[in-house]
Amino acid sequence: MRQIYANYAATSPRVSPAVADALVAHLRGTNLSAGRNFEGLDDCAVALRARSALAELFGVSDPTRVLFTSGATAALNMALNGLLRPGDHVLATSVEHNAVARPLELLSRGGIINVEWLPCSPEGSLDPAIIHRAVRQNTRMLVMPHASNVLGTILPVGECLAIAEEYGLLTVLDVAQTAGVLPLPMDADVLTFAGHKGLRGLPGIGGFAVSERAVAEMEPWFVGGTGSSSQSLDMPDFLPDRFEPGTQNTPGILSLAVSAAEILETGTDSIREREAALTARFIDELRRIPGIVIHGTGDASRSVAVVSVSAPGHDSGKLARRLHEEHGIITRSGLHCSPLAHRTAGTFPGGTLRFSFGAETTEDEINEIKSALRELLKGAMLFGLS
Ligand SMILES: Cc1ncc(COP(=O)(O)O)c(C=O)c1O
Repeated sequence: MRQIYANYAATSPRVSPAVADALVAHLRGTNLSAGRNFEGLDDCAVALRARSALAELFGVSDPTRVLFTSGATAALNMALNGLLRPGDHVLATSVEHNAVARPLELLSRGGIINVEWLPCSPEGSLDPAIIHRAVRQNTRMLVMPHASNVLGTILPVGECLAIAEEYGLLTVLDVAQTAGVLPLPMDADVLTFAGHKGLRGLPGIGGFAVSERAVAEMEPWFVGGTGSSSQSLDMPDFLPDRFEPGTQNTPGILSLAVSAAEILETGTDSIREREAALTARFIDELRRIPGIVIHGTGDASRSVAVVSVSAPGHDSGKLARRLHEEHGIITRSGLHCSPLAHRTAGTFPGGTLRFSFGAETTEDEINEIKSALRELLKGAMLFGLS
């Protein structure tokens, strides 16, 4: 059976041929890492290529302010723990991924910080005016995702960041769902990204881009050897070493050097246009299927290529399994690591069936998914199955 992949919000299914070729050539030649071997000097060049391409995508003027970690989760842990201080009040949204919610909750349970979850609408958007009302004297940071990984909704980040700036707040923007698929340059102090989603790199690579203010205020929280300033028990005071302890994931970084260059070449405007058109088409088709509820905005111009649905009386996990087993369609069901977003959408604890699209999705696939869903739900209605 032909497989149709509709789970891009979790991870891209394949790297591009150029990325695969570069990785094969690299791995046939060496497994050495920058800073640990003389030959590793070449890898510093690879990292610089990756930093430069990502800096261009993110609108960061100095490539050394793009830092690599094992993923968005590690980047968020480093940024939140490295920036927050005892007594800080933090604003975050009610659609955060657990990669944000759990570190904040841990800091809050330890009595270190106080978190306020700003209520988003059931469709996953945030009224920026809420920030004015929530700011207190000790508010130090606003954290938010660029787009919800459950509902696809793009949050009004421009307005929110501008309000945060009025109050001098530090801003952390989780761009896991938008890096590589939406035009990005924007003024956050920290942008945290995953390498394996829209950026189409390997799993196990990600990172964060930081403003000059964040560099000055962030303590290295994840620490260790850097192959530099080794006489000192403190982390180096220069970038990128200050925030990049441990042996680098050179294949991961190489994958990003090549894929980010490809994305720059294609342009995020055209990637966005293509994905929005596919999403609009899918939403249109869904509206014609009796028994489907679309969560989120239901408007492709206000969301990324992520569409969560439910069918009252049906378990989302069972629907996902039947789509896979009977039609070869790969989706993701349940809570998508974001119980907060599901509570916000009113879909907790059952969750939703999430479709998400990307670089290789075609119109034919959208049609096939629509037909499969229609057939599944029609059959279920006739025979009382769920
Ligand atoms: C919005 C959001 N933030 C953070 C993450 C965590 O990314 P990673 O698993 O690459 O660390 C994800 C992954 O699904 C996500 O969707």
